[in-house]
Amino acid sequence: MQDSSRRAAPSAAAAASSSPPASPSAAARSTPSGRPHGLYAIGEGSATRVRVHHLREMKGRGQRIAAITCYDATFARLVDAAGIEVVLVGDSLGNVIQGHDTTLPVTVDHVVYHTAAVARGLQRAHLVADMPFMSYRSPDVALQNAGRMLAEGGAHAVKLEGGKEVAETVRALVSAGIPVMGHIGLTPQSVHAMGGNRVQGRGRAARERLVEAALALEEAGCYALVLEGIPSELAAGITAELTIPTIGIGAGPNCDGQILVLYDLLGLNPEFKPKFLKQYAALGDTVVDALATYRAEVQAVEFPAAEHGYVDPTLAAEPHALPSGA
Ligand code: KIV
Repeated sequence: MQDSSRRAAPSAAAAASSSPPASPSAAARSTPSGRPHGLYAIGEGSATRVRVHHLREMKGRGQRIAAITCYDATFARLVDAAGIEVVLVGDSLGNVIQGHDTTLPVTVDHVVYHTAAVARGLQRAHLVADMPFMSYRSPDVALQNAGRMLAEGGAHAVKLEGGKEVAETVRALVSAGIPVMGHIGLTPQSVHAMGGNRVQGRGRAARERLVEAALALEEAGCYALVLEGIPSELAAGITAELTIPTIGIGAGPNCDGQILVLYDLLGLNPEFKPKFLKQYAALGDTVVDALATYRAEVQAVEFPAAEHGYVDPTLAAEPHALPSGA
């Protein structure tokens, strides 16, 4: 495993020479027509979309990839406006949308439904759909279900959890033209096998297993790999070893990119504060304040005010046309 220090943060110059398509706001500044320059201006579709090869190029340049989970069209529009490169419709929707303790009850139908909603809100980001528990237990089952993620959900790729044991399935999907993002380390669908959602890859044997898994997944054709809940040094080593980008969550700063669950990043679950998470906003508090103010104004008959009501100008000519008491 190579020295993790060679994966230091990119220089400002490297970061500035970004080649994934510019984010909508940046694109609007890039040419008088509002279109981005060069290759990406060739066709409308390809003008705006972040694609698998852009992610690999970003790794090559040492330019970090920002990824986030998302579950609906409204947030998808906001995520795109922020210029995030990769959006995952994660099976974490079982936790943050459905209120379950684990991701296990999430079904293919659920992910397809949310992926289609997100796809309608996204124009630029690369969209990945998570393969739920038991939806890829054999290559044939995986092909059926992953096909739905792309055909019905509008995803550009799928993600699945596991190491060497899923390599054959990855090969089958990739042969069918379905890009696959791997996911190793803390794999929440194996919560019971892991004895809880615990940090993985500690100790020599566990470390070696993860390195072997990462290499097997790259060899099987994965275009990117999520590293979740593993020691930072191990993630740095795996990242240096692979040619495909790694996307970390709870895996330290030396992965090629980072991913967080959108609701956690925004502070919508204020009590959820694991070590790896940074809350970039306190929207949970903002939402509660807004709702409490709304309730107080409804009760005080301050909302709606006159400006929130509609007027019928013809009523002035017929003052007795309304039912009595109106
Ligand atoms: O389901 C999910 O949201 C995920 C990410 C946290 C990587 O798998």
